[in-house]
Amino acid sequence: MNEIVHYYNDLARTYDQDRFDNSYGKFIDSQERKILDKLLINQDEQILDLACGTGRLLNYASIGVDASAEMIAVAKRKFPEKTFLQNEADTINLAENSIGTIISFHFFMHLDQNKINQVLAESNRILKKNGRIIFDIPSRKRRNLLGYKKTNWHGASSLNIADLKANPDFVVKKTYGLLFFPIHRFPAFCRKFLVALDSFLANSFLKEYSSYLIIVLEKK
Ligand SMILES: C[S@@+](CC[C@H](N)C(=O)[O-])C[C@H]1O[C@@H](n2cnc3c(N)ncnc32)[C@H](O)[C@@H]1O
Repeated sequence: MNEIVHYYNDLARTYDQDRFDNSYGKFIDSQERKILDKLLINQDEQILDLACGTGRLLNYASIGVDASAEMIAVAKRKFPEKTFLQNEADTINLAENSIGTIISFHFFMHLDQNKINQVLAESNRILKKNGRIIFDIPSRKRRNLLGYKKTNWHGASSLNIADLKANPDFVVKKTYGLLFFPIHRFPAFCRKFLVALDSFLANSFLKEYSSYLIIVLEKK
């Protein structure tokens, strides 16, 4: 078992509380949901949550894929009616051209470039023509600006939108910026104003200077 999956097996029981029961987690979760609500409205094709973890976003999907048995066990308790596959993201046990949309959050940041390419190739295989993969990743332009130094695999990867435009199998359909300012660190009374300003800047020409990018790729 690889180091990342081992880490999440150990974290599974406390993941939801540890990551999402605080002001940062709640803010990120709500911002991601706003974007998913827009992108997935009227979607009647099957949606797969890749690296679904404990099922934070599984309300949007009917299939959850994850390599960690322990993360899946927590997700299964919350969503007993969903289908789960304990698979590596680059070898998913599904037929080609079988899925309408893949969502994958807080996952690509863990992968090196080679693995990102493999996961995108596998996603392309299982997606129908014009099917989409929607995922987030730290923005490389922001990291370069701030002189980010990677310490280990956790959150180590980042991308430029131009890198994705060079992928021959997908078209970049939409991109969103997320977290221009560290909003969760500001007092609650000024957050409402800051959220509006943050969303404006994070989706302006300065988009790639947000902390995260949310990318929508469409299979050619
Ligand atoms: C930070 S969690 C994200 C969970 C969920 N998507 C969310 O946003 O809350 C990362 C997940 O990726 C899974 N994972 C790590 N490496 C994987 C791989 N190679 N294939 C499939 N899942 C993997 C972990 O088990 C973990 O559940």
